[in-house]
Amino acid sequence: MTTLLPLVSNTTQEVKITPLNAPLGAVVTGLDASKAIAPETILRLKQAHRNYHILIFKNQKLTDEQLKDFAYYFGDLFVPLDETPVLASKTGVTPVVIPVANIEGGYTGTGELTFHADHHWTPYPSSGSFLYAEEVTTKGGETAWLNLNLAYESLDDVTKERIRDLQLITYNPFVRTPDSPRRLYRNDTSTPLVAPVFAHPLVRTHPESGLKVLSLGYATEVSVVGLEPEEGSALIAQLREHLNQPKFYYEHRWAVGDIVYWDNQSTLHRRTAFDPSERRVLKRISLAGSRPF
Ligand code: OGA
Ligand code: MN
Repeated sequence: MTTLLPLVSNTTQEVKITPLNAPLGAVVTGLDASKAIAPETILRLKQAHRNYHILIFKNQKLTDEQLKDFAYYFGDLFVPLDETPVLASKTGVTPVVIPVANIEGGYTGTGELTFHADHHWTPYPSSGSFLYAEEVTTKGGETAWLNLNLAYESLDDVTKERIRDLQLITYNPFVRTPDSPRRLYRNDTSTPLVAPVFAHPLVRTHPESGLKVLSLGYATEVSVVGLEPEEGSALIAQLREHLNQPKFYYEHRWAVGDIVYWDNQSTLHRRTAFDPSERRVLKRISLAGSRPF
């Protein structure tokens, strides 16, 4: 049984939302995520999330159950389909709170993770994810988030026009034939597909804000529907080079008690590698999304 709505709640006046001096992001202080939150505060947070793409909540202390209750203020949970596995997928019983940690039972190890959006290869990718930091490193393991709306808007007009109606397939990195090489672009059809694939607009419209985003990860294997491999791979390489510019992203140095809630529809995220002798324990929850358009 879940315990819902503890008696003590937050005072609305104390909650401050301060935009970062960065291409995206705002910091939320004066809020205790383990307690009930006033309706007007929830609405302010939702609005800020739409405007700033990521919210950073400071100084939290939560059980897994409380983290889940907090996340539910913003939507329903992401549940992967068995045929489109994601991080921590287990048939029928994927955990809701996923330990992103270099300890036993944890996921993602200690290596670098390049810019990606969670669940992009599924039919209905998640709308957003939360990471809550319980233990952090002294250096390394920084997470950066990249503003895909800015990345789109700063493309030149010719490129915008060229990519306007293109559909992109992102191949599932969790389903791989053992000896197939890691590729940035699938330019042959000789390797059989081992999981269903889904094409989504390369230029996506954010379902709430209506903003256009360049919906492309940095290194996941992709292909563009209807383009010859040579043309498609050259285009994707050009877009990826454009994406990977510091002017589009903010890098976060974690402190214990931080929760970052990001929009998976308008951002990418990446992580720098860290020393395996340090412990890094984060907890992740992802929210359900909708069919991209
Ligand atoms: C994730 C992820 C980044 C990190 O959990 O989806 O990409 O900083 N984690 O560990
Ligand atoms: Mn991720």
